Amino acid sequence: MAPIFLVNIGQLVTLRSGAHGPRRGKDLRELGIIQDGAVVCLGGKIVTVGTTRDALRDSWVKKNRTKLIEIDCAGKVVLPGFVDSHTHPAFISPRLVDFEKRTAGSSYEEIAAAGGGIRSSVDAVRRAGKRQLADHVLGALKELSASGVTTVEAKSGYGLSVEAELKSLQAIKTASREWPGTVVPTLLGAHVVPSEYTDRPQEYVALVCEQMIPRVAKRKLAKFVDIFCDRGAFSAEDTLTIAKSARENNLQVRAHISQLIRTPLDRLLGLGPVSVDHLDCVNDADVARLANSETIATLVPGANYFLGLSEYPPARRLIDAGAAVALATDFNPGSSPTANMPFVLSLACTQMKMTSEEAISAATINGAFALALSKSKGSIEPGKDADLSIFDVNDYREIAYWVAANHCSYTIMNGEIQRNRQTN
Ligand code: NIG
Ligand code: FE
Repeated sequence: MAPIFLVNIGQLVTLRSGAHGPRRGKDLRELGIIQDGAVVCLGGKIVTVGTTRDALRDSWVKKNRTKLIEIDCAGKVVLPGFVDSHTHPAFISPRLVDFEKRTAGSSYEEIAAAGGGIRSSVDAVRRAGKRQLADHVLGALKELSASGVTTVEAKSGYGLSVEAELKSLQAIKTASREWPGTVVPTLLGAHVVPSEYTDRPQEYVALVCEQMIPRVAKRKLAKFVDIFCDRGAFSAEDTLTIAKSARENNLQVRAHISQLIRTPLDRLLGLGPVSVDHLDCVNDADVARLANSETIATLVPGANYFLGLSEYPPARRLIDAGAAVALATDFNPGSSPTANMPFVLSLACTQMKMTSEEAISAATINGAFALALSKSKGSIEPGKDADLSIFDVNDYREIAYWVAANHCSYTIMNGEIQRNRQTN
């Protein structure tokens, strides 16, 4: 792997920080920008971060300049690669019938009750070969990296049987080996109760706890267990049972919660989940609990956009109270079919009233905390993985400003350069 030299960077957005822990409150606005910056990467790691002037005086750079892959980033913005901490890429088909019903006025829950929704993605996944599923996951990873994402959390959750959930996680593993970025796999066997267990949901919860989680843990196929805790999915009680099983099997916990109806967060937070996601229906007590916890509040406004909702998660209340907020795409076929991270930043700013600075921090360093990867991901600092994105814009605020655009010309993942578009 050749060393990389990014030079003349118009704005180098480092997100460097002396502090430990995720960004909260005013710290979310501190981007650590270096004007006319330079970065040297070696062996898949970042080794030097500073100004172009200093880099060009560096004796190692002077001696090795001809051997470096040099990218002139004049008039461009360089960011830490986005960390997309919430995606569901292990599915086969888009849900076009759901889409048509929604444009005709049906809600997410009405569509699910009428035979659409998550359950309608299950048959195709159960029938699919592992390679076919892996190709779909790989397609999503490539689309994500084209918009500057370098780390992706990837959930199973459309198999809903021991066999099909294991197959989904194996497909995620196969795809992750064929993509230069970093993939964090999550078991979401508790996405919904599959049709064959409708009359005996507790047996499905037992299957998740006694079969899926131990087998996934034994084969090291996932780092996290996720649970969809909401109306029409799993109860607060079931969620705690499944979360405890995850912990007993040395897997970390994250949850979809309070998307459709409120579930008080206190008991789940007591189990120390790394992240709780969606959070549309939280109240002041939940916000205060979150602010006093280490758990990341992951917001996925792409789902609100695609479901045509007028309300968005209360980002301002969460940030102003001191919660550590992250942003993710929630890429999935039912509620958020987008792999465009800059679009998610745009939604965060226009719909949730986050600032550009808060949105960038939430999509990089706090995303890294949401995956327990903050030591290696989420900022441009010596020693961290060489995960960077180069945007053809003069000012970092343009990333959230241009609606549904993608100005990412290069994505660098673990030191490997991917060219996304012709640059000027
Ligand atoms: O995060 N809420 C649950 N899971 C997904 C939707 C999955 C689907 O509809 O396929 C979400 O929005
Ligand atoms: Fe989701």
